Amino acid sequence: MASTQIKVDVQTGELSGDKIGGVTRTVDDLKGLFRDEAARQALDPHTVVYRTQEFAPVPAGQEGGLFWGTTFLEPGRVGDEYFMTKGHHHTQRSRAEFYLTVTGSGALILMDEKRHTVFAPMRPGTLHYIPGNTAHRVANTGDTVLAFLACWPSDSGHNYEIIASHGFSARLRDVGGVPTLVEEP
Ligand SMILES: [Fe+2]
Repeated sequence: MASTQIKVDVQTGELSGDKIGGVTRTVDDLKGLFRDEAARQALDPHTVVYRTQEFAPVPAGQEGGLFWGTTFLEPGRVGDEYFMTKGHHHTQRSRAEFYLTVTGSGALILMDEKRHTVFAPMRPGTLHYIPGNTAHRVANTGDTVLAFLACWPSDSGHNYEIIASHGFSARLRDVGGVPTLVEEP
């Protein structure tokens, strides 16, 4: 069997090689994500909030394979909320994931099936195991790019719709300079 290889710059998280895809999300793409919609609209809509890279050595949905990716989350705020990813469940709820932070600082926000939300600090070198059945999103609480590597099963799938419609039960907000989870009303 042929080997499949890419390069990972472990200082920056940048991936290079074949079969690398990805998406970019701007302020304009993230309507409704943040609590303060007026603050979002006041920002330049072309501002990049995050960019992803994804290495998919097998077709999406194939059982038994693995994917690898990097997310580059810019520093910034929308009102008192930090720039963050949309957040998702895995379509196959049981599927877990690893996140390894390489640059910057932030927070991994996790919500279980009972809608209990917690967060864990992310710093270079922290490796987080995200269990199955757990919604996840990342916020950049620092003032430099937060980059983290991820590895997840190729049959995980991504469900963004549940979070888009129901949100997390709490938002990570800057309260007096401290990242604080504030329960949603
Ligand atoms: Fe995931």
